[in-house]
Amino acid sequence: ETPIRVGLLGAGTVGSQTARLLVEQKDELAARIGRPIELVGVACLDPDEVNYPWIDKSLLTTDTMKVATNADIVIELIGGTGAARTFVMAAIESGASVVTANKALLAKYGPEIYNAAAAKGVDIYFEAAVGGAIPFLLPLRESLAGDKVTSMLGIVNGTTNYILDEMTTKGLQFDDVLKDAQARGYAEADPTGDIEGHDAANKAAIMATLGFHTNVTIDDVSVEGITKITADDIAAATAEHKVIKLLAVVENGEAGVSARVYPALIPETHPLASVHGSFNAIFVKAEAADDLMFYGRGAGGAPTASAVVGDVVAEARHIAQGCTGPTIPMYNNLPKAPIEAS
Ligand code: HSE
Repeated sequence: ETPIRVGLLGAGTVGSQTARLLVEQKDELAARIGRPIELVGVACLDPDEVNYPWIDKSLLTTDTMKVATNADIVIELIGGTGAARTFVMAAIESGASVVTANKALLAKYGPEIYNAAAAKGVDIYFEAAVGGAIPFLLPLRESLAGDKVTSMLGIVNGTTNYILDEMTTKGLQFDDVLKDAQARGYAEADPTGDIEGHDAANKAAIMATLGFHTNVTIDDVSVEGITKITADDIAAATAEHKVIKLLAVVENGEAGVSARVYPALIPETHPLASVHGSFNAIFVKAEAADDLMFYGRGAGGAPTASAVVGDVVAEARHIAQGCTGPTIPMYNNLPKAPIEAS
């Protein structure tokens, strides 16, 4: 049987783990999909720098466009909104379905990409873009499609949750904890995006788009990060039996749709208060379902790769069965609440 061909763009922290899961579980995945699946190319910046026993050296190339346009499923793990956009659009145009973890790309160019995929009849999956390993976006797209989501509160950045948690439990200083988070592989290459709240803001835009079936981009999100949080702020919160968490808050209320990221004071008794370290969690309110909470590892190579490969398997099953997955209807065009200055 002809294998389903998978092209991988990026061989960094997540890319290398994604390749590992695909290669090491090849036979098991083929059985789950009902057709063989094969990694046919890995695009990277410098093949000499990529040394993993599970990546066949002959798959490595700097010709990213070739990998992006010669596969049934293209996995984009380059990051950023420049080259990644070009390659994702080229992959869709070539008829491939796309799996990406790129929250910045979707928060900025989501509508363009979703519409292009729908027009071409291919799928776009991005479970890893929000909450890393946590199965959250697919439940939002499918399991909750019959309900009305009214709000979501998310701890969706592992780096800042880790920093705030270490400051709270160990009384450490911001700068020392940041270095530790970077060493553990949670932080973005440029940690400014984490600590200033931009990474969480990208995720808030995606959450609001999927949750409310409307078009919310990064420009609609108000953002305040954690760089101004001091040890005194933390001590004051503790004295009031509260904790400080960087939250992504998206609401579909009377004033319209809003998406905000800010350091929030939450009571110690709230379920989100017990989310420690680099873990993520999203607390969802829906009209019929009532309260739901999704919890798990939001960052790191293997956890993020788990979500990426889950998407690959879902898409490979669709290809094997000759069908497509859910589209992303942005039919609502809901009014946006005015952005408050922070
Ligand atoms: N830098 C992100 C985080 C990685 O700290 O959560 C996952 O998007």
